[in-house]
Amino acid sequence: MKLTISRKAHFNAAHKLYRPDWSDEKNNKVFGKCSNKNFHGHNYELIVSLTGEVDPETGYVYDIGKLSQIIKSEIEDYLDHKNLNLDIEEFSSLNPSAENIAILIYDRLIKYFKEKYKLKVVLYETPRNFVEYSG
Ligand code: NI
Repeated sequence: MKLTISRKAHFNAAHKLYRPDWSDEKNNKVFGKCSNKNFHGHNYELIVSLTGEVDPETGYVYDIGKLSQIIKSEIEDYLDHKNLNLDIEEFSSLNPSAENIAILIYDRLIKYFKEKYKLKVVLYETPRNFVEYSG
């Protein structure tokens, strides 16, 4: 019997969406306000879900305290209060869109859960805009 457990997390970060190989006009046309050159911030809300079998010994799918520690060390410590474009190497030449941030989060977490669990990342950039990624 497979169940899904989830843990919510949170980080604040600044970014802009911008392609240096495009004119300012084209950046503005494609990315709108998100391309403003002096960056802007978001309060990102993250939901990390693991689907797997319930361990008959513990009654857990996965120890949620352990999951929360992994999210803290791999995601919050890495992204919170950062300028994603300037501080995070992966985004030095890749736009830190919600899509690309969700992929980065997944890629940093999947090593802990390979084989036994299905990992899913849901990332809210605003209360109304969110993306899902599960590999
Ligand atoms: Ni933005």
